[in-house]
Amino acid sequence: MTFDTIIRGGTVATASDTFQCDVGIAGGRIAALGSDLGTAPEIVDASGLLVLPGGIDSHVHISQPSGPGIVMADDFASATRSAAFGGNTMVLPFAMQQKGESLREVVKDYHKKADGQCYIDVSFHLIIADASDAVLGQELPALVHDGYTSFKVFMTYEGLALSDMEMLKVMTVARETGAMMMVHAENYDAIRFLTDRLEQAGKTGTLYHGASRPIPVEREATHRAISLAELIDVPMMIVHVSNGQARDEIARARRRGLKIYGETCPQYLMLTEQDMDGLNMEGAKYVCSPPPRDKESQQACWEGLQQGIFSLFSSDHCPFRYDDAQGKLAPKGKTSFRWVPNGIPGVETRLPILFSEGVNKGRISLNEFVALTATNHARTYGLYPKKGTIAVGTDADIALWDAKREVTISQSLMHGGTDYTPYEGIKVTGWPVSTMVRGRFVVRDGELVGKLGAGDYVPREKSELAKPRAA
Ligand code: URP
Ligand code: ZN
Ligand code: ZN
Repeated sequence: MTFDTIIRGGTVATASDTFQCDVGIAGGRIAALGSDLGTAPEIVDASGLLVLPGGIDSHVHISQPSGPGIVMADDFASATRSAAFGGNTMVLPFAMQQKGESLREVVKDYHKKADGQCYIDVSFHLIIADASDAVLGQELPALVHDGYTSFKVFMTYEGLALSDMEMLKVMTVARETGAMMMVHAENYDAIRFLTDRLEQAGKTGTLYHGASRPIPVEREATHRAISLAELIDVPMMIVHVSNGQARDEIARARRRGLKIYGETCPQYLMLTEQDMDGLNMEGAKYVCSPPPRDKESQQACWEGLQQGIFSLFSSDHCPFRYDDAQGKLAPKGKTSFRWVPNGIPGVETRLPILFSEGVNKGRISLNEFVALTATNHARTYGLYPKKGTIAVGTDADIALWDAKREVTISQSLMHGGTDYTPYEGIKVTGWPVSTMVRGRFVVRDGELVGKLGAGDYVPREKSELAKPRAA
């Protein structure tokens, strides 16, 4: 057997096993796993390194419309470059519909932004903001058929929030088409009520972002989304869960036999509401929704990961620059937390944070790390086994990790478009040193070697989790 590349001497880990083995790559795929694979034009010495499936970050926002005067800090080039340095080989951003727009046109426009501009592979989720008959009856089913097999809906945000009636209609389409539905669960009316009340009391600083959407706001919406999904009997992913009460809603649903899944993110393990208490709106750097909570919620999210209630660990990378007229403080003269664009960067730091805080500190195993950061994303969103594992026949999407490297996270080390990292100063042990997509290095020993445009768009199968129970 002939190979283009052999990765030699490393320790391979998948979601189920860890073993010493060489990896033979031919035509962009893994062609053999074993020892004594012979020789190849390229031999990669991985001794002392972990050989892991490249990270799949299934929740990132790139070049998304974000409101008047506000521009996201990452385009596809900078986001996928940053992701590659963070050990990722694929990201799944959102093609976001706005009211009145054709979903098909939104997807076409988003392809124009992405095509030829990616360092690693990408695939799009949809965002449904306009649940019209045409969208639900024609466009969405056709797009699911074409490989856009997942979509997100929002229970909050001006212009995005769906009513319960709309949620039920959308869920019906998800059930009929086999699409995986992702839900942003926060109670819109409660947030508006609390925001008005805080502002009337002069509580406009960024710290109050947390008080405007406290845990019951998320818990209630999570419970309601699950109840609606139960009525329709449709599987659902509750994204960016921030606390134990929302987590317990998911756990209870699962105990009742429902196919309800959960995702959490680094901000809910590493940040708290107090991080939003910065002088001169500096807390805007941490404003995201749901907001970071408290130490107890952090622990609850760890337990959610350990107990499998959360099957996905994603970044919810949603980057805005801080010191920039189009960034976090863009809405001129509007000094309330209400106007701060929601979202924080994290695609480059997701994996080192979970590796260090999770694997190295003994909270999760290396195999659980692989499942939470790669394999489960591929399984959930119709990419498995092409992506998300190391096995003969799969795409050679691989990250080489130095499990002992100590790094202090700092903006100076980042490769994206933002001007800050919310994780500045956090010390981690374990770092992805090289990233390879379909057998070609994108990052090699900490240097960018990949070509812009080498990342492909990947149409997806239907989720293996999105099969409804028998009627
Ligand atoms: O604050 C956040 N999470 N912004 C990104 C959009 C979303 O809701 O995921
Ligand atoms: Zn969301
Ligand atoms: Zn998001």
